[in-house]
Amino acid sequence: MTKRVLITGASGLLGRACRKEFVDDKSWEVLGLAFSRACSDLRKVDITDETAVRDIITGFKPNIVIHCAAERRPDVVEKKSEETRNLNVEATRYICQEAGKIGAWVLYISTDYVFDGKSPPYKEDAEPNPLNLYGISKRQGEVVTLQVSQENSVLRVPILYGQIEKLSESAVTVLFEKVKDTANTCLMSDYERRYPTHCADIAFVIRQLADKRLQDGSIKGIYHWSGNENMTKNDMAIAMAKAFNLPTNHIQGDKNPSGGAKRPYDAQLDCSRIEALGFGRQTPFKDGIADVLKPYL
Ligand SMILES: NC(=O)c1ccc[n+]([C@@H]2O[C@H](COP(=O)([O-])OP(=O)(O)OC[C@H]3O[C@@H](n4cnc5c(N)ncnc54)[C@H](OP(=O)(O)O)[C@@H]3O)[C@@H](O)[C@H]2O)c1
Repeated sequence: MTKRVLITGASGLLGRACRKEFVDDKSWEVLGLAFSRACSDLRKVDITDETAVRDIITGFKPNIVIHCAAERRPDVVEKKSEETRNLNVEATRYICQEAGKIGAWVLYISTDYVFDGKSPPYKEDAEPNPLNLYGISKRQGEVVTLQVSQENSVLRVPILYGQIEKLSESAVTVLFEKVKDTANTCLMSDYERRYPTHCADIAFVIRQLADKRLQDGSIKGIYHWSGNENMTKNDMAIAMAKAFNLPTNHIQGDKNPSGGAKRPYDAQLDCSRIEALGFGRQTPFKDGIADVLKPYL
């Protein structure tokens, strides 16, 4: 049987890891989509254009769609709510509707920011209560995904890091700019609790789910996957410094809530549904981050 996977946002942080995972597996025919970063390996499709979405899905006929593309920067979303709604919600609707017509399964990538962070850990069926517009838009995308077809799935993930094109690409790796600058004191958030997760681990879990879904229709609904180390950004910064034997005395923890769009305090994801399948992988942060940051030392 030919297995075809369509990956939206394949030029992005998670989408690149997903594309690599499926391409390396060799049993999948893979088509990655991009927008501003389209290149010879990635097809340019504006997924906010319903006709373009229809054309690509009816042309490629995927069995599975991994929908990574989104606006995921909370502070940008606060300023661009209309554009965000078009991308995070309406484009999701177009993708799910077209996928539904050809019987393809959609896995919508979502976020721990759908929770308010007041009563962790959150099971897959916990009641969402997003605190900011980004979280609201992603929750609306989840609802659309499951309303269009209850066969579809949502995978919620927390703060991500992985192979980057520049340090600022991930909210984790961006901290390394200040960690490296040992001559200047820097303040690091030491308030919100996070669970930094390697994109390659998420991609691995996604491929496990995709393979299973082709044989087992019970793979549907909401799933969570997350790293298992509870860290503030200050903890992450110190772990980065230690990974490269850099001093840490210029890094100072800030015990106040972060500024900008409101963030959940601790939105730890309970990953029981994926664990029960015997799936998953959790790269230790100190190993994953050292590997990713090595070229930027
Ligand atoms: N990064 C995190 O820490 C994090 C945490 C939790 C959940 N998530 C979720 O994980 C998913 C992936 O996030 P990410 O960090 O990989 O995002 P990202 O690096 O910001 O990538 C966003 C992707 O969306 C594409 N895109 C933007 N506008 C588009 C349009 N109009 N048409 C088609 N594609 C468009 C971009 O393409 P071009 O760059 O080619 O324009 C890019 O590939 C998102 O759903 C996000 O909500 C991320």
